Amino acid sequence: MGRVQGKVAFITGAARGQGRSHAVRFAEEGADIIAVDLCRDVDSIKYPLASPDDLKETVRLVGALGRKIVAVQADVRERDQVRTALDQGLSQLGHVDIVVAQAGIAAMKGEPPLQAWTDVIDTNLIGTLNTISVALPHLAEGASVIATGSTAAYVNALPYQQVGTDPGGMGYMVAKRMLSQYIHDLARELAPRKIRANVVHPTNVDTDMLHSEPMYQAFRPDLEHPTREDAQHAFPVQQAMPIPWVDPVDISNAALFLASDESRYVTGMQLRVDAGGYLKWYDFHL
Ligand SMILES: NC(=O)c1ccc[n+]([C@@H]2O[C@H](COP(=O)([O-])OP(=O)(O)OC[C@H]3O[C@@H](n4cnc5c(N)ncnc54)[C@H](O)[C@@H]3O)[C@@H](O)[C@H]2O)c1
Repeated sequence: MGRVQGKVAFITGAARGQGRSHAVRFAEEGADIIAVDLCRDVDSIKYPLASPDDLKETVRLVGALGRKIVAVQADVRERDQVRTALDQGLSQLGHVDIVVAQAGIAAMKGEPPLQAWTDVIDTNLIGTLNTISVALPHLAEGASVIATGSTAAYVNALPYQQVGTDPGGMGYMVAKRMLSQYIHDLARELAPRKIRANVVHPTNVDTDMLHSEPMYQAFRPDLEHPTREDAQHAFPVQQAMPIPWVDPVDISNAALFLASDESRYVTGMQLRVDAGGYLKWYDFHL
């Protein structure tokens, strides 16, 4: 008996990275999956997003575990597309019990700058709202909603950054903060229905998003074209533990706990998987 046996998880951004890892980890524990991904690039974003082949690989990995998966290419910025994708999953799998709204882009130094702001707000904030909104009417007692935040939601970058110099980067932080507040308030409304809503806040995760030139530049603003090796030395600054990043499965294990009935009375939580990053930056908060 798996920890999410018989449940169906609706996961956005599932073609690669953390989303794929969640799909596989949940399938290992007995869940079927509705997987959504854009599978194409966004012009203002300076690194490639997932491809249709990436999504096929997620399908293969979940299938190899003997679980069902319905995979749909859809854009979380477009609520109708997300609804159609979920409906496709529901028609084959019958119900949805877990929502993991985690499709996202990193818009640091995106161009044109104000388009990057718009794209990251639309994807990371509005996309999260769209995903949860289309699922809400289908959720019953025991269901679990999980959104992916970031340490960026609670690191105060403003004093360190000249206002207006990187709207894409600031938009990322704003989107993660606002989705955290949204989940806090949503959890209050869902609690009497015994439906839960929580945020997982990862620190650096070893995915293509972290290993991208805009991220390398965020960690090494002193270099014009920092390499992976240049950035590697700066990555540990984010954590209190002496590591450059966590693995996708570390986030999946946290999401799995929140998805499972083991956490049946855990709601409204801002769960940091940050190797102590918060402790490092905020020693006076509880
Ligand atoms: N990697 C990190 O260091 C890190 C740290 C904290 C938070 N996060 C967050 O974790 C989540 C997952 O990121 P990741 O690290 O797996 O990166 P990733 O780039 O590997 O995965 C993100 C996925 O989202 C998909 N996506 C992007 N825009 C989409 C859209 N409009 N519609 C549907 N799918 C879309 C991409 O194609 C990609 O498959 C994101 O929300 C990200 O902000 C990442």
